[in-house]
Amino acid sequence: MKECKEYTLRIGKHTPKYPIVQGGMGVMVSGPNLAGAVASAGGVGTIASVGLAVTSPDFTGTNVAKENIVMIKKAIEKARQIASDGVLAMNCMCALSDYDDMVHTSCDSGIDIIISGAGLPLKLPELTKDYPGTALVPIVSSVKAADLIMRKWEKSYGRLPDAFVVETPNTAGGHLGARNESQAMDKALSLKAVVPALVDFLKNLGVNIPIISAGGIWDSKDIKEAFDMGASGVQMGTRFVATEEADASDRFKQAYLDAKEDDVVLIKSPAGLPGRAILSPLVKRYFDDMLEKTACKAACLTHCICRAKHETFCIADALMSAYKGDWENGLFFCGTNVTKLKKIVKVRELMEELVTGLGCVYSPL
Ligand SMILES: Cc1cc2nc3c(=O)[nH]c(=O)nc-3n(C[C@H](O)[C@H](O)[C@H](O)COP(=O)(O)O)c2cc1C
Repeated sequence: MKECKEYTLRIGKHTPKYPIVQGGMGVMVSGPNLAGAVASAGGVGTIASVGLAVTSPDFTGTNVAKENIVMIKKAIEKARQIASDGVLAMNCMCALSDYDDMVHTSCDSGIDIIISGAGLPLKLPELTKDYPGTALVPIVSSVKAADLIMRKWEKSYGRLPDAFVVETPNTAGGHLGARNESQAMDKALSLKAVVPALVDFLKNLGVNIPIISAGGIWDSKDIKEAFDMGASGVQMGTRFVATEEADASDRFKQAYLDAKEDDVVLIKSPAGLPGRAILSPLVKRYFDDMLEKTACKAACLTHCICRAKHETFCIADALMSAYKGDWENGLFFCGTNVTKLKKIVKVRELMEELVTGLGCVYSPL
């Protein structure tokens, strides 16, 4: 067994002990407990900023934006208490109405890294210009998206991303970087296609930006494969949901353990993007066109087909219901790996399995 030197991930000035990023998962699936546990286990722990308001005692159901800001600060403080020397990231989704405030508050509260997707984070350097130490990591699903971001950032702000997360819609959980459900399954957007192509693209430009592979990463074999393709790290979501420390309810975790292959479906989210989720009663009602129309309470998305056209369902309600463990009304995002999960483990057990599988010594912080 050796140190994990050949598996080093550097993101700006931050070098986690192990090249494993726990992906941001809203609403309150990756809150401060999970992110803190992962950071203290040697990975990058990511808090999802979306919907943190649900944990506020002052949350009324409609004051989402205001309470999100209060709870972002508190979540970072709590995660830092768990992992004082760990690397912590905040996941901020471009599609959210309070994106700018979420980014500002996270930086102001001392977050190490902002990881940003669900749209192209074209103005992220502008929003973070007063925090030069905060590393910036866009999530992309294609070389084209990475190229667009790099051109815009270089031209307007004279800087480049500190890393890219390449997330394949073929297997990942949550909102997916594809136009629609059929493009989400297009092999042209697989990790095997996009990661080596982005590695070549960056090499030809003569820039050194680490790539983090995401979507369907299950074990150390998958991590090695990602490195063989030229990635410098992996981001994993679904496996971290099935941990004791994940902030989701026990019912959420049980839904993961129960899920079979036919239960994993693609939906069109109110954000207009495809998403991968468990076939819960809410999703069945959505497929059967049996959903009741609901009025918008929080205007959480900049573009929402539920608000604008009364299509689909209220995503804030659906994700908050999932957080509360309401199986009937919840939207339970998941990656295709969900069907492989057999039990709930501790974050340290999972990290140890992954790290020792790489042939490295495991020692948490
Ligand atoms: C329950 C759940 C919620 C998610 N929420 C978010 C989110 O709020 N923002 C985001 O950028 N990605 C989100 N994702 C994607 C993850 O961060 C991660 O990139 C992805 O799940 C990786 O694929 P895997 O689940 O196959 O490991 C979510 C994924 C899951 C499973």
